Amino acid sequence: MGHLGKATLEGLLKSGVAPEEIFVNARTEKTLKALEEAYPGIAVRSDKRDLVSNVEVLIIIVRPQDAREVMSELREFDLSNKTMISLMAGVRIGEMREMLQDHQRKYRIIRMMTNVGVALCKGVIGVSIDGDKEEYGQELELFSKMGYLIYLPEDQLESITITAASGVGFAAYLMKQYQDACDRLIKDSVVSEEITKRVFETTIDLVRKDQSSFEKLIEQISTKGGTTEAGLGVMINSELGDIVNRSFNEAISRVKK
Ligand SMILES: NC(=O)c1ccc[n+]([C@@H]2O[C@H](COP(=O)([O-])OP(=O)(O)OC[C@H]3O[C@@H](n4cnc5c(N)ncnc54)[C@H](OP(=O)(O)O)[C@@H]3O)[C@@H](O)[C@H]2O)c1
Repeated sequence: MGHLGKATLEGLLKSGVAPEEIFVNARTEKTLKALEEAYPGIAVRSDKRDLVSNVEVLIIIVRPQDAREVMSELREFDLSNKTMISLMAGVRIGEMREMLQDHQRKYRIIRMMTNVGVALCKGVIGVSIDGDKEEYGQELELFSKMGYLIYLPEDQLESITITAASGVGFAAYLMKQYQDACDRLIKDSVVSEEITKRVFETTIDLVRKDQSSFEKLIEQISTKGGTTEAGLGVMINSELGDIVNRSFNEAISRVKK
């Protein structure tokens, strides 16, 4: 129940799951107490055995370095009729089976890579299934209410980690650069922030409304010899696209490590 855990919980509530149907666990008293106060009605459980016995679907949202500890706790319980959904980056289904000592591959395990947009039911959700997709109808329906599902083989799931999960951070950074540049012209940080939010929101809304593309919108806005064309020329010549590619490549090598 960290950053992505809370986003997922909020997405579940927003998509209509009753609070009483949601059981949560964390490692520290501090987090458990904060959850109880922030989300009335959900069942906060410090004891994993108690939690596991109450649920059909177990969503694992701990950091990869904590996976082994959590799996060694979980393997003490009866998991045979549960579905486990791992949202952890970089931990493969095979590794989870090994940590759970599921040598017969009996447990139902799927992996998803989501971003914090699930809190608004606008997430991007990469899904890898070890087995038959039809068997996971209920779980997939649950997540489909929280975002846009993309089915991928497991070795391609990390592309969603970079483009969509880290992507929220990358997009925020690009917007911050835009906001700082606005501020240098306007010299009012509140106004600059509002302009930045509205420019990015409008760009996306227009492309969606007209079922158009970013490329077409650029064409519509740039008059030959005008201000947009002049400004864009600098972005193109500075190889902004190449900087984004290099950022993705660096992030990919990190996730592989
Ligand atoms: N953040 C994102 O935007 C994002 C996006 C895509 C994927 N992910 C993936 O989501 C996972 C979590 O990331 P995060 O950013 O949400 O991390 P985080 O904020 O550090 O949260 C991790 C949570 O795991 C809990 N935890 C650790 N060990 C535990 C244990 N033994 N039993 C029960 N709970 C335990 C912690 O509990 P305490 O609070 O009590 O310590 C904490 O609430 C990672 O695998 C990451 O790759 C994150």
